[in-house]
Amino acid sequence: MRVLLLGSGAREHALARAIAASPFLDYLTIAPGNPGMHELGSLVALPTLPDVLAWLAAHPTELVVIGPEAPLAAGWSDAIRSHGIAVFGPSQQAARLESSKAFAKSVMHRVNVPTAGYRAFLRIDDAVAFVHESALPWVVKADGLAAGKGVIVAETVAETIDAIQSLGNIPAGQQLLLEERLYGPEVSLIAICDGTRFSVLPTARDHKRLGNDDTGPNTGGMGTIAPLHAMNQYTAKQLGALVIQPVLDFMRLHNMPFVGALYAGVMLTEDGPKVIEYNARFGDPETQVILPLCTGDMLKALADASHGKLDPDELGWQNRAAACVVIASHGYPETPRRGDEIFIDTARIPANGMILHAGTKVSEGRLLSNGGRVLSAVGIGDTHAEALKIAYAVVDCITLAGMQYRLDIGQSELP
Ligand code: AMP
Ligand code: GLY
Repeated sequence: MRVLLLGSGAREHALARAIAASPFLDYLTIAPGNPGMHELGSLVALPTLPDVLAWLAAHPTELVVIGPEAPLAAGWSDAIRSHGIAVFGPSQQAARLESSKAFAKSVMHRVNVPTAGYRAFLRIDDAVAFVHESALPWVVKADGLAAGKGVIVAETVAETIDAIQSLGNIPAGQQLLLEERLYGPEVSLIAICDGTRFSVLPTARDHKRLGNDDTGPNTGGMGTIAPLHAMNQYTAKQLGALVIQPVLDFMRLHNMPFVGALYAGVMLTEDGPKVIEYNARFGDPETQVILPLCTGDMLKALADASHGKLDPDELGWQNRAAACVVIASHGYPETPRRGDEIFIDTARIPANGMILHAGTKVSEGRLLSNGGRVLSAVGIGDTHAEALKIAYAVVDCITLAGMQYRLDIGQSELP
């Protein structure tokens, strides 16, 4: 199989490793990829959809795998499919589960997926009036894609009003949602979907705040641990039956079948699991810990899903654990500094440890930081403690001026 993978983060680096491990792979091209991926495939810059379509016209390809949300929300998978090429990644319509929180909420409501109570508003004034009347703080969400900056968990009425003013004035905030606040541990449940059936991958926990003990601003994700003790493959399947299957059924019945990775962000509340959000793609940094724990052929599963014939039992889970510590640049998330030199002491990277690249570039033979989240340090072990020890040993092999990382990844899973 000849495969084109789109994306440039550590999530795509993990996907490229899994795809490259398959005996079904003939040739992997990654656009644009990053400097960590050279051994896995050839890298090519295809910044626009016309670039991708022109490249595909010249390079016979059996499967395109789309990593990030922006091209999905922009309808790239529809355009590529219309040329007869299989795509792992939902249509623009189906990707609305992520690109419109109001759409996702209405679907959850229609199919009785448990979620937080909410109200949607098209006008800032109406939302403010509602908050004054309720005299309660709310979780404020912009409807559209906002690169992880579209949610504010307000603690007071005044903070809620401030959040409405700031999110109401960003492009994604044309529509605002006010949501009831939920409490409980969070689970990222990601399922590979073929439009009808799904296969759940190991559960993971992300750490979204920049600082230790969940302090500081929200980020794209500072680290992950997998699988969660509370969730073996059987219970993850049950959770999938509650929060994935009804949505797949609804989307198919309404002629927008969901083909791709459906990610449910779930909170385990005292009243049972409730969905906080759906993403229409693999999570980052969840993918970095989930894929190393899967058994079976990931490329075959992605290709089968894209052809509507996934075997839900095709992929299994290893009885091991994985941890990922994200190395972010100085100034992340507000003003990430670029261009700092990165030194990696490769000789000291432990067995079962690895470095996945994200915001890096090579310039005049030097490896430089080139974005907010720069590297993922990953460890795999027989226990969560061992996986964490290895991940932090990998961190110790990295030198980058001003680098930021959390010291408390995965604490919830330690004995
Ligand atoms: P999201 O971008 O929807 O994943 O939201 C970012 C983070 O905000 C989530 O991971 C939660 O920690 C938090 N959050 C979102 N919605 C709620 C809610 N209804 N109650 C409590 N926390 C929430
Ligand atoms: N780790 C959160 C996300 O991928 O959206």
